[in-house]
Amino acid sequence: MNNIYAIIFDLDGVICSTDRYHYLAWKALADRLGIPFDEQVNSQLRGVSRMESLEIVLGEHSADYSEEQKEALATEKNEIYKSYLSSMTPRDLPKEVRMTLHMLRQRGYLLAIGSSSKNTQQILRQLGLGDFFDAIADGTMITKSKPDPEVFLLAASMLGVSPENAIVIEDAESGVRAAKAGRFRAIGIRTEGNDPDSDITVKNLKNLIDIL
Ligand code: BG6
Ligand code: MG
Repeated sequence: MNNIYAIIFDLDGVICSTDRYHYLAWKALADRLGIPFDEQVNSQLRGVSRMESLEIVLGEHSADYSEEQKEALATEKNEIYKSYLSSMTPRDLPKEVRMTLHMLRQRGYLLAIGSSSKNTQQILRQLGLGDFFDAIADGTMITKSKPDPEVFLLAASMLGVSPENAIVIEDAESGVRAAKAGRFRAIGIRTEGNDPDSDITVKNLKNLIDIL
């Protein structure tokens, strides 16, 4: 692809399958609260920050909880989520993801992460990617989560490239919108129940090798 020097990857649902763990953790919390929760609600949470996700999960019940109680609920969800994360090892990094990342690096692309997650550093360490990326922009560094472009603009500026010279890889609708709002090109990863409205959509990360 012309004039592309850098690739910015979303983390959850692109590099690893932690989107499944998010689903299980929100489901456990919603079940405890007696609030209906399914894959359809879950798909609205992709790319969205923890507190904004909680609001979507609570829906019409949001007004029943104080801000303090909401903080406690978000912490409860995060603790459940982290119990799933704790068993993750480099074996949980899919082979095709590892291979793709190394091939893209060999081709000379700058590689970064742009994720809304505050658990990004821990996940990357556990996958054995703690030192791999040229830049990491995550949920601990931003004030507005996707669909705002802040996290991708931060990643691009950490790499020293302009948005028109970088491409964003996303599984979430909110992430593709964030990329577009930042004037990046976007490639969507299509998974079950999810078809992001990106410039190009692929089924698997390894398809990037043929496109870029
Ligand atoms: C995004 C996920 O990457 O991170 C969202 O797609 C999640 O589902 C968000 O809510 C925040 O994650 P965390 O780890 O900070 O709770
Ligand atoms: Mg994602």
